[in-house]
Amino acid sequence: MGKDKINELPGVGPAIAEKLTDSGYIDMMSIAVSSPKELSDVADIGETTAAKIIQAARRSADVGSFETGVALLERRSKVGYVTTGSKSFDELMGGKGFESQAITEFFGEFGSGKTQIVHQICINVQLPEEKGGLNGHVFYIDTENTFRPDRIKQMAEAYDLDTDEILSKIHVARAYNSSHQMLLAEKVNELSKEFPTRLLIVDSLTSHFRAEFIGRGALADRQQKLNKHMHVLLRWGDLNNGLVLVTNQVSSKPDAFFGDPTRPIGGHIVGHTATFRLYLRKSKGGKRIARLIDSPHLPEGEAVFSVSEKGIRD
Ligand SMILES: Nc1ncnc2c1ncn2[C@@H]1O[C@H](COP(=O)(O)OP(=O)(O)O)[C@@H](O)[C@H]1O
Ligand SMILES: [Mg+2]
Repeated sequence: MGKDKINELPGVGPAIAEKLTDSGYIDMMSIAVSSPKELSDVADIGETTAAKIIQAARRSADVGSFETGVALLERRSKVGYVTTGSKSFDELMGGKGFESQAITEFFGEFGSGKTQIVHQICINVQLPEEKGGLNGHVFYIDTENTFRPDRIKQMAEAYDLDTDEILSKIHVARAYNSSHQMLLAEKVNELSKEFPTRLLIVDSLTSHFRAEFIGRGALADRQQKLNKHMHVLLRWGDLNNGLVLVTNQVSSKPDAFFGDPTRPIGGHIVGHTATFRLYLRKSKGGKRIARLIDSPHLPEGEAVFSVSEKGIRD
């Protein structure tokens, strides 16, 4: 997908195509909705050329169509749910846990339990529907080298599951930098045709972006790429009726440039694209608190849960 078609646009040679895809313009639509100024900046071309490319992309992009409320309701009725492992956490999410066709973002400090939760869902998504799962495989994009098969084993044993079978349905890739991470996400689109995949995890969504795009000057670029990345993830969730879970670390140390220490990176771009945002924090006695912020149809609120050897529990 993407690159070949972009290559076919009049005025786009291999060099320009590469610059565009490197900057996150991976398909016709992303070019069709960009501005000449934006495109000329990222591809080092004049604005007139950029405008012509955008015109051509608009002609060939499948801009999408309107759907009736009935069709949307029908699509909504297919939404699948995966239990969190904790009753109170499930309640916070409307009763049945995390939803498909949506991105759920976990943000919180180091050690707040983000990676533990996504590990737990790797197992829970494989459960049959009557047990709170979706019988699905998992793709896991690991950017911080924190995926631990032995932890999966430990959690699966707590449910008396066949640990080898569970591990065989979790497909993990290490992402070495933000571009690699974006490429892997696109690759998941192809690979998930081979397995009945219902879960895509990016842990962490933002660590590479945070490390690579430093300072005010890089901010716009970073946000733009994160935006493209999030839309690839969202589309995957729609096409596969799958859950997308992403983690986002906030720093406890005041950041000289960006003020609020507990503001998740990616700011409003990640925040607006994520369907559900959950703020995680540690509490007394090993308890953890999840706070639901910004949800399309659920009230804000909090759930108390624990991370034990067995996994996520009440
Ligand atoms: N096997 C385990 N048994 C009990 N608690 C664990 C286990 N593994 C990790 N934890 C808990 O999870 C915490 C790490 O959470 P993690 O999800 O890695 O944080 P982050 O939000 O940085 O991804 C540890 O500090 C510990 O409290
Ligand atoms: Mg982590």
